[in-house]
Amino acid sequence: MTIVITGTSSGIGFVLAEYFGKNGHQVFGLSRKNVESPYFTTIPTDITMAEAVEKAVQEVLSKSGRIDVLINNAGMGMVGPVEDSSKEEILKLFNLNLVGAVQMMSAVLPIMRGQRSGKIINISSIGSEMGLPFRGFYSASKSALDKVTEAIRYEISPWNIDACTLHLGDIKTNIAENRVKTNVSEPYRTTFDKVYALMNSHVDQGTEPLEVARYIEKLLASNRWKAHFYFGKFGQKIGVPLKWMLPQNMYENLMRKYNSLDKA
Ligand SMILES: NC(=O)c1ccc[n+]([C@@H]2O[C@H](COP(=O)([O-])OP(=O)(O)OC[C@H]3O[C@@H](n4cnc5c(N)ncnc54)[C@H](OP(=O)(O)O)[C@@H]3O)[C@@H](O)[C@H]2O)c1
Repeated sequence: MTIVITGTSSGIGFVLAEYFGKNGHQVFGLSRKNVESPYFTTIPTDITMAEAVEKAVQEVLSKSGRIDVLINNAGMGMVGPVEDSSKEEILKLFNLNLVGAVQMMSAVLPIMRGQRSGKIINISSIGSEMGLPFRGFYSASKSALDKVTEAIRYEISPWNIDACTLHLGDIKTNIAENRVKTNVSEPYRTTFDKVYALMNSHVDQGTEPLEVARYIEKLLASNRWKAHFYFGKFGQKIGVPLKWMLPQNMYENLMRKYNSLDKA
């Protein structure tokens, strides 16, 4: 298969690209940094730039003649209190996590329509299903991608094209270093520091990216797709059904405990 993956210069994307390349697929990685690998070809691309995206996808087409799979993996985190977040920071985040992913879909879909086949995996987060403390805009940006994915499924199915969101729990990568970090004002500092240390320790203790690659391999082999798939530690995945099953305040109290937050 010809597989296009975004954000392949590090973390999950790099591991996915190498994994699928090693397993005999033709893999093209789109990231701003050029990474040399014997298993995949990097086309240096900033996916927030529509023209660059279009050019990169045309390059893939000229080299491989088709695109079977798009994995929209490029993304970044953002941490800080909602109150302190600036318009520039919010737009930067949404420009990558939502607009960049949409531009990628818009560029590959005409090709997939021509083939009358294609699969798109949008990498989301378990945190898109709930507003996480001090990560409100990250949750919101991934949640926006989830809704767009739900919508596009209806629109592209006549051409035998499928799309889904893959909600990940914490995965052991350097995502913490690449986050947008809002300046934290004094009233929030003590609580923020506590939650921030905890969220970083969750990433450090997260699942290995190779496990994500193995999961996606199974997903691609399956014909039983739906809008949402969840992958991660049980303690994180269970947060999703609990949100709908428990009374709202009970759920919030549980989340407070998980995040070591006190109520006034
Ligand atoms: N790690 C986790 O715990 C976790 C949990 C849930 C979901 N996720 C999601 O998984 C995805 C991958 O995260 P990760 O943990 O592997 O993070 P990462 O190591 O920071 O990787 C992010 C990748 O995105 C690329 N990227 C950033 N801006 C870009 C742009 N404008 N154009 C093209 N590529 C760009 C980066 O490459 P360049 O800088 O070279 O462009 C990099 O390769 C993200 O969507 C993230 O939200 C991660």
